[in-house]
Amino acid sequence: MEAAEKEEISVKDEAVDKNIFRDCNRIAFYRRQKQWLSKKSTYQVLLDSVTTVEDSTRFQIINEASKVPLLAEIYGIEGNIFRLKINEESPLKPRYEVPDVLTSKPSTVRLIPCSGDTGSLILADEKGDLKCHITANPFKVDLVSEEEVVMSINSLGQLYFEHLQILHKQRTAKENEEETSVDTSQENQEDLGLWEEKFGKFVDIKANGPSSIGLDFSLHEFEHLYGIPQHAESHQLKNTEDGDAYRLYNLDVYGYQIYDKMGIYGSVPYLLAHKLGRTIGIFWLNASETLVEINTEPAVEYTLTQIGPVAAKQKARSRTHVHWMSESGIIDFFMLTGPTPSDVFRQYSRLTGTQAMPPLFSLGYHQCRWNYEDEQDVKAVDAGFDEHDIPYDAMWLDIEHTEGKRYFTWDKKRFPNPKKMQELLRSKKRKLVVISDPHIKIDPDYSVYVKAKEQGFFVRNQEGEDFEGVCWPGLSSYLDFTNPKVREWYSSLFSFPVYQGSTDILFLWNDMNEPSVFRGPEQTMQKDAIHHGNWEHRELHNIYGFYHQMATAEGLIQRSKGKERPFVLTRSFFAGSQKYGAVWTGDNTAEWSYLKISIPMLLTLSITGISFCGADIGGFIGNPETELLVRWYQAGAYQPFFRGHATMNTKRREPWLFGEEHTRLIREAIRERYGLLPYWYSLFYHAHVASQPVMRPLWVEFPNELKTFDVEDEYMLGSALLVHPVTEPKATTVDVFLPGSNEVWYDCKTFAYWEGGCTVKIPVALDTIPVFQRGGSVVPIKTTVGKSTGWMTESSYGLRVALSTKGSSVGELYLDDGHSFQYLHQQQFLHRKFSFCSSVLINSSADQRGHYPSKCVVEQILVLGLRKEPSSVITHSSDGKDQPVAFMYCAKTSTLSLKKLSLNIATDWEVRII
Ligand code: GLC
Repeated sequence: MEAAEKEEISVKDEAVDKNIFRDCNRIAFYRRQKQWLSKKSTYQVLLDSVTTVEDSTRFQIINEASKVPLLAEIYGIEGNIFRLKINEESPLKPRYEVPDVLTSKPSTVRLIPCSGDTGSLILADEKGDLKCHITANPFKVDLVSEEEVVMSINSLGQLYFEHLQILHKQRTAKENEEETSVDTSQENQEDLGLWEEKFGKFVDIKANGPSSIGLDFSLHEFEHLYGIPQHAESHQLKNTEDGDAYRLYNLDVYGYQIYDKMGIYGSVPYLLAHKLGRTIGIFWLNASETLVEINTEPAVEYTLTQIGPVAAKQKARSRTHVHWMSESGIIDFFMLTGPTPSDVFRQYSRLTGTQAMPPLFSLGYHQCRWNYEDEQDVKAVDAGFDEHDIPYDAMWLDIEHTEGKRYFTWDKKRFPNPKKMQELLRSKKRKLVVISDPHIKIDPDYSVYVKAKEQGFFVRNQEGEDFEGVCWPGLSSYLDFTNPKVREWYSSLFSFPVYQGSTDILFLWNDMNEPSVFRGPEQTMQKDAIHHGNWEHRELHNIYGFYHQMATAEGLIQRSKGKERPFVLTRSFFAGSQKYGAVWTGDNTAEWSYLKISIPMLLTLSITGISFCGADIGGFIGNPETELLVRWYQAGAYQPFFRGHATMNTKRREPWLFGEEHTRLIREAIRERYGLLPYWYSLFYHAHVASQPVMRPLWVEFPNELKTFDVEDEYMLGSALLVHPVTEPKATTVDVFLPGSNEVWYDCKTFAYWEGGCTVKIPVALDTIPVFQRGGSVVPIKTTVGKSTGWMTESSYGLRVALSTKGSSVGELYLDDGHSFQYLHQQQFLHRKFSFCSSVLINSSADQRGHYPSKCVVEQILVLGLRKEPSSVITHSSDGKDQPVAFMYCAKTSTLSLKKLSLNIATDWEVRII
C-alpha cells in the first residue's frame, strides 16, 4: 500500500468530524431563505394569464417585491398524480431540470377547469374526484379529494425563487437589493453567499449567482411522515429544529453518526405521509443540495371565550408542514394522492420505475471484506464455507484486487489468474463481485485514463481542465457519468474482451460515487466543477451516483448481448436507482446501536422504491463482539441484501472463526435465509411488477392501526412474515407487537400462535430469530439447502400454510431461470397461486402467460392452525387421480404435516383434508 493511501485510511478511521460537514446554519441558501421568509413578501397568480397548452395548464405568478414573473405549469398524470412545475418565465439561461429519472414522459390526463370564485382557478381530473384549487392572491394551491383538502401548497407563504441575475460585478448593490429582496448590503454579501460561499478553506464560486428555490406543503391531519432517505435516523420523520433540517446531499461519511439528519451517501427526495384512511406522497424532483424541514402541529381543542357570553369549543385539525429548499434548479414536484399505501407505491414507480428483478444468486449470502488478499485467500475462504456447511453465493473483492486502484485491472501478484479463480467459483456455482469506483487514477500508462482523457470524458474544473481530486488511487479524475457518451463508453468497458480477466460470473460493486473526493469540501466534489452541457456540479450532485450505477448495469446487460440480468451494488443513489440494482447503507460500525438502526434505515429505503437494500453484516468498522455478530447475521438473513463486510484493519470474521457453537448459529441463520429464498424471490417479483416493497413497515400492512405507525424495531417481509430481530445484548426476551385484532400469528419455529392486537413477550435464546407467520398466508420454502442458490434449482419445495381465523389462506410462488431476461421476453416463468379454503389446498396458475418447465415438486406441506385432526388426506391431480397420503397431526400445536409428497409445482392439483 502506498503511503498516501495509508494516510487516507487513517484519516478515515477517526470518528465523524462534524467540522468536515456543514450543518444548515453553514449553508448559505438556507440562511438566505430564512432571512427572506421572515420578511413575508407574497406571490400572486395573474389569473388572466391562464392558458391550457398541450397537456398542461399554465399561468404566471409574480412576486410583489421583485415583480419577476414565474411560470407555473400543472399537469394531471395518469394514476391520480398531479405535477406542478415552477420556473422563471424567461431565465437568463436555462435552469437545470433533472433528466433521466422519470422512466418516460408521464402520460398526462386532461385537467378540466371548473368554475370557482373570482380570484381562484379550479382544475379537476376527469372523474372530478381530485381537484387542484388555486387561489390567486396570495398564491396557494389546495389539493382536494372528494371535497376534503388533503394538502395545501404555499399556505405558509414559503415559496422562494431566486431568479438568475447578471454577474454582480456588473451591477450596483442597489439593483441587487431590489431584485433579490434579501439584504445584500456589502457586509451581508459574504454571509449570504450569493456569488461566493466560504467553508473552511474552500471557496465556492457561483458563476450563476444565487439560484435557490423553496416551497411549503401543509398536510392536513397528517402526523406521520416517512421517507427522504438517506439518513441514519428513525423511520418516522421527526420534527426539525431551527438549523437542523433533514439534509439531502450525498456524502461519504465514514462511521456516520446515528440519529442524525445529516446527509449521507444517497438521496431520494420523496416523502410519504400517512393517516388513518389515507396515504399520500410528495416527490420533489431536484438533484441539487436539498433541505427538508418538518413541523407537526398536533390537533388542539381550544375554547373561544370572546364570542359572546357562551364559550365555544373549536377543534383545530392537526397538520404537518413540510418545507423543501433546494440550492438550484427549478421547482418540480409530484403529488401522489394515494389513497392507500399500495396506490402511492404504484404512483411513485409509475414515475421512477420499479425494483429491477435481481438474479437469484444475489438474494443469497455475500461474503466480502476489505480485502480478500489474493487468490489463495479466496480459495481458502470459499473452501471454508463448504467445510463448515454454510451456503453462500458470492465472493467479493475490494479495491486491493486491482493494480494500484486502477479499476478493470488485476493486481498481478495477488491475482495472477483471475479467470482460473472464477472457474473455481463457477464450479461451486458461485459468483464473484468486484469493485469499480468512479475516480480514475491519473496515470498516462493506464488505458482507461488515457482513453477517457482523450475523449474529454472527465468532469472539468473552472479552468476547463480535467477536475483532479484525491481518492483511493491518489490523484484522480472523475468520469462524467451525466454525459450519455461517457456512460456508453463506460458500459463498453465491461465487455469480456475489454475487461481482461472477467467472465460472466463477475458482477459489480460501485462505491465512492457520491462522489467521494478526499480533502474536497465535505469530502466531495466542489460545486463549481463542470459537467457535460456546461452544468455545474451543484445542479446535479445528488444524481452522480445514480448515473454511475446506471452505466454499470447497462454494461453488464450489454456484455451478455441483452440476455442476462445484471447485479450492481451502489453506495450512492437517487430516486429511481431501484432500476439498476441494490443499495447498502455504507460504512456502519460494529455496535449494537448500528444493528438496531439498520432496520429503520432499510425500511425508509424500501418504501421509497429501493427494495434491494442491506447493511454490512457485523458492522464495517471495528470488531463486533461474537454475540453481536451472531445477532447481526440473524437480522441480515431477514433483510433484502445480505452481505458480511469489514474494513481492512479489523480482525478476520469469516463465520467459522468464533467457535463451533457460534459457527452453528451463523450457519443456521444463513440456512434459514436459503430455505426462504422462494418466498424472497416471489417478493422481489412482486416489487418488480407491482411496485410493492419487499421489506415493509407495519403501517403499510396495517394502515388502519394507529399503533403500527411508529414501529421500527420489527417489520413485515411481504404480507406474510413479521420479523423482530434481536438487537440488544444478552437479551432473554423481546416484546413483539403482533398487529391486527382479526389476525392470528404463528411462531415460525414452535408454531405457537397468538391472536393479533397485542404485545407478547417472547423468550429468546442465542439461537432464536423471532419470526412470525401471519394467519391467512402460504409461504413457499425449499426443503433442502445447498452450497449456493445454484445447487438448489432442482430441490423440492415446501409450503407453510398458516390458517387465518376463518381457516383459509393464500400465497404465491414465482420462479424462472433465475438469471436471464427470458421471463420478460419469452414469458419463461411460473407464477403459481396457492389457496386454502374449506379444507382444500389448491395450486393453480396465477398468470397464464407464463411457462417454465420445472420438474420441482412440492414435497412437504405444513398446515398451521388446523384445529381438528383429519381422518384422511387425499391429493387430487388435474388428470382426475386421487391418492391418499400419509399425515401427521399434532394436537398440541394444531399442526398437520404432510411429507414425502411428489406434487409437481408447475401443474394444478389439490390437497383435500377430510
Ligand atoms: C468505502 C466503502 C467500503 C469499502 C471501502 C474500500 O469505505 O464504503 O465498503 O470497503 O471504501 O473500497
